[in-house]
Amino acid sequence: MRKCKKLWPVLLLMMTPILNLYASEKIGTPSLDDIEYPDDEPHSHAEVELGKKLFFDTRLSKNQTQSCATCHNPDLGFSDGVSKSMGSEGKRVGRNAPHLYNLAWSSVFFWDGRASTLEQQALGPIEAPGEMNMPLAELLPRLEAVPYYMKAFKTVYGVSSIQPQEIARAIAAFERTLISMNSPFDKYMAGDKTAMIPSAVRGMKLFQGKANCTACHDGPNFTDDSFHNIGVADKDKGRAAIINDNSLSKAFKTPGLRNIVFSAPYMHDGSEKTLEDVVRFYNRGGDKKKGIDPLIKPLSLTEQEINDLVAFMGALTDPVVVQRPELPK
Ligand code: HEC
Ligand code: HEC
Repeated sequence: MRKCKKLWPVLLLMMTPILNLYASEKIGTPSLDDIEYPDDEPHSHAEVELGKKLFFDTRLSKNQTQSCATCHNPDLGFSDGVSKSMGSEGKRVGRNAPHLYNLAWSSVFFWDGRASTLEQQALGPIEAPGEMNMPLAELLPRLEAVPYYMKAFKTVYGVSSIQPQEIARAIAAFERTLISMNSPFDKYMAGDKTAMIPSAVRGMKLFQGKANCTACHDGPNFTDDSFHNIGVADKDKGRAAIINDNSLSKAFKTPGLRNIVFSAPYMHDGSEKTLEDVVRFYNRGGDKKKGIDPLIKPLSLTEQEINDLVAFMGALTDPVVVQRPELPK
């Protein structure tokens, strides 16, 4: 017995890494120190400004009708308000445009996780025929014809021609500045117990408890950066099509929930119109049960509890204001 007592501190010490891992996944406010920058230091103002101009510039689409901001519109929560986005040639993209908040902390991009850095992601929509339809070989001379871009790429990257790699770096630099971390929830966690309305406080308990949302929406940005089939009734194979693993059929990335009030409709197919609809979806245990994640079960929430969960997600709101830049001539 005495021996056991002596072993206790040793055991605890051995468990610290495990306990830390658990603690780091708790919901809370993200730390700027945890952002991994490609050059290990925050982007320069000039790089972010260049990326911002590119993000808003319709020159990036072949017929010059679309910019990134067409589908990731700052006035619509960096999404576009429709179930499935419309490409520059008028065809529907197969999926809903995700919001872009707090992606600086993420390492999983697209609903099926087919990119693992923002830099890797950025050129996809430019080249995709169903989106901006712009071959990079045509984009480079188009941008090089604009004196501002030639000068800015030279200043920021020291290059005398514009290359895809730097376009991606600049856009990613701008995206890393879309940070939201001063919501009523963050103020509440920092000690201001009046920052969240009582319904949101009850919703937070449900979110971590009875409704078990933190099983997947955990960490400071409310995502486990992983993939789950939550039973959305849709034919899209999701993650399974990328890694050829049928156990992940219809599994999609867990989206972060910061500023989620702005980016309706929801889910990879835009099938849920409001946050209340989303909670009702979870309350009935999803729609399509085949292959569904065992974490998704009917929740037996009362009407009050449904409202409380919606109120809690509302408390994750801290708008990111982005002035549309003047575009170079
Ligand atoms: C035609 C609409 C449209 C345009 C234009 C567009 N996107 Fe997207 N974006 C989408 C859709 C739809 C998805 C989800 C696609 C998927 O998961 O397969 C997406 C996904 C993303 C993601 C992944 C977000 C996440 O949480 O995983 C990022 C980042 C992104 N887009 C940035 C950009 C940038 C940068 C541009 C401009 C170069 C751009 N998008 C242009 C519709 C668009
Ligand atoms: C098993 C993991 C898991 C659990 C548990 C879970 N979610 Fe999700 N959540 C996801 C995934 C994955 C998606 C995207 C699914 C898709 O599009 O098919 C998602 C989507 C959402 C969306 C839509 C976000 C957007 O940008 O479209 C909201 C809102 C949401 N969940 C809230 C909740 C709430 C509230 C709970 C608890 C009642 C919860 N989730 C429980 C994994 C989970």
